[in-house]
Amino acid sequence: MQFARKDILDMETLSVEEINLILDTAESMKEISQRPIKKVPTLRGKTVILFFYEPSTRTRMSFDIAAKRLSADSLSISASTSSLVKGETLLDTARNLEAMHPDIVILRHSRAGAPHFLAKHLKSSVINAGDGIHAHPTQALLDMMTVRQKRGTLEGLKIAIVGDISHSRVARSNCVGFTKMGSQVVVSGPPTMMPAGIEDLGVSVAPDIDTAIEGADIIMMLRIQKERQKGFLMATEREYCRFFGLTVERIRKAKPDVLVMHPGPMNRGVEIAPEVADGPYSIILDQVTNGVAVRMALLFLVAGGARHADVD
Ligand code: CP
Repeated sequence: MQFARKDILDMETLSVEEINLILDTAESMKEISQRPIKKVPTLRGKTVILFFYEPSTRTRMSFDIAAKRLSADSLSISASTSSLVKGETLLDTARNLEAMHPDIVILRHSRAGAPHFLAKHLKSSVINAGDGIHAHPTQALLDMMTVRQKRGTLEGLKIAIVGDISHSRVARSNCVGFTKMGSQVVVSGPPTMMPAGIEDLGVSVAPDIDTAIEGADIIMMLRIQKERQKGFLMATEREYCRFFGLTVERIRKAKPDVLVMHPGPMNRGVEIAPEVADGPYSIILDQVTNGVAVRMALLFLVAGGARHADVD
């Protein structure tokens, strides 16, 4: 299958075939990171700009590592060190970057739709590394890769997503992605953190965490996004933990082989107990490892790679 897409902006626009191609390509990329010399010449001569207007550890580092493992030249610009602080607009900044002929621009921005806006105006490929509360497609893809590796399929699985659903772009992209791939998605969180109309994404809402995780194959815990919340949405972290935190006692009520995920960063002792985060159910660091492989696959595919067989 040819991958004809210039940009990766959200999960809505990716077809099932494209998602499968991305996950298959990521599987073939994974092996490169296990070699003694973790580098192939696939994207030699290509330039990748990492443009992060919001903080990031995993996404930014894994895109940078992915670009370097494929021999692309990658460089990074953040809001605080760019001319944004002098009043330059996003579009002017992007046009100036494009004048230097990058091939791929990776954008994280606090405004929903910012990567879509750039993609309309730039000839370079644009990959959304998280835009406001809207979408985080590369996180959803690495989450799907991780579940597919562990369970062999995404079809028919029950995925429980628990936490601050309203402010989570990870939740939104995973609801769309997993549902598209045939999983059954259940979301749960405090009513103050549950967006109206979330069922329109094809998911169901559970009244409490215990109902959500009952019979679940996967539990995905989310951080409370204090930086995006306006107003008073919960009493105390202690109370939040009591009602929505994933503890060892609670997890015993789930399936015996349930797997626990978290996109990070985690608030240990709030949405997830440390013994769960570090325990035998956790596949949180597998998610991080797969983040590099998925981002290598995306860079390769938007740069013109045709089939996963072409990587070597
Ligand atoms: N999951 C995620 O997006 O993490 P970072 O904010 O550290 O990139």
